[in-house]
Amino acid sequence: AKHLLGIEHLHPTEITTLLDLADRYADHNRRGVAHRDVLAGMTQINMFFENSTRTQASFEIAGKRLGADVMNMGMQASSIKKGETLIDTALTLNAMHPDLLVVRHPHSGAVDLLAQKVNCAVLNAGDGKHEHPTQALLDALTIRRAKGRLHRLSIAICGDVAHSRVARSNIMLLGKMENRIRLIAPPTLMPSGMNEFGCEVFEDMEEGLKDVDVVMMLRLQKERMDGGFIPSEREYFHRYGLDAAKLAHAKPDAIVMHPGPMNRGVEIDGTIADDINRSVIQEQVEMGVAVRMAAMDLLAQNLRAARALPQGIMA
Ligand code: CP
Repeated sequence: AKHLLGIEHLHPTEITTLLDLADRYADHNRRGVAHRDVLAGMTQINMFFENSTRTQASFEIAGKRLGADVMNMGMQASSIKKGETLIDTALTLNAMHPDLLVVRHPHSGAVDLLAQKVNCAVLNAGDGKHEHPTQALLDALTIRRAKGRLHRLSIAICGDVAHSRVARSNIMLLGKMENRIRLIAPPTLMPSGMNEFGCEVFEDMEEGLKDVDVVMMLRLQKERMDGGFIPSEREYFHRYGLDAAKLAHAKPDAIVMHPGPMNRGVEIDGTIADDINRSVIQEQVEMGVAVRMAAMDLLAQNLRAARALPQGIMA
């Protein structure tokens, strides 16, 4: 593939190839093994039109560990503020011949649109409510390393499913790898038709968490609620916040995940988030660097192959 825009069009074998490479990068990162030749001579531009801590930092670290020249566009200080459009901004940067463009945008589909206008590889770092493919891939790697496999697991995705690109990408990825997915949310935060995606739908946390292997919590995304119904945080935590009593319904060795940023005391109890025997939240962050290294490595290989002159043309 030329770009990484979403999980939707990835084949299970492509997912496994990427995770295998990311797994090796994760081990090398722990041992401090450098790979500065992989993206040497390549330019990576990060364009974040929405706030980010984990994704922006890990894409930057990933690019630098692979030897790329990494530039972070300060979008708040860019000419977007003077009215320049997303596409004109992309065309302007494209004229500087970057190799990799990492883009986060609040509008669903904006990153796909931008990818059609540029010559370099585009990686979606989250577009509106649509997709966050590298998050789903890092979640998958975290699950695979913790559970020893990425199939036939029972996985609960809990909370604000309606506004979550993380949930959407995870539902697609985990479904492609033949896991059983349970979605748990209040009716106001559950999109309709989720059974058609092969998910089981629950309104009650204790019922939905029964005997699951993985508990994936989601942030309450107030910024995407567009003036619609916003639940009271106290009531929400009482019914949907993950605490020890609710977690007791999952398997005794179930792992707890959260993509971050976390709202402690809203969707998750702080003691559960910090319990190193159950929570893999810091491992998720760690795997984020490895997965983004693998994704950029594979796209760079495809770029080089596409740019290679046909044999004999220089003769
Ligand atoms: N999980 C995630 O995308 O976090 P950031 O918004 O901090 O990048």
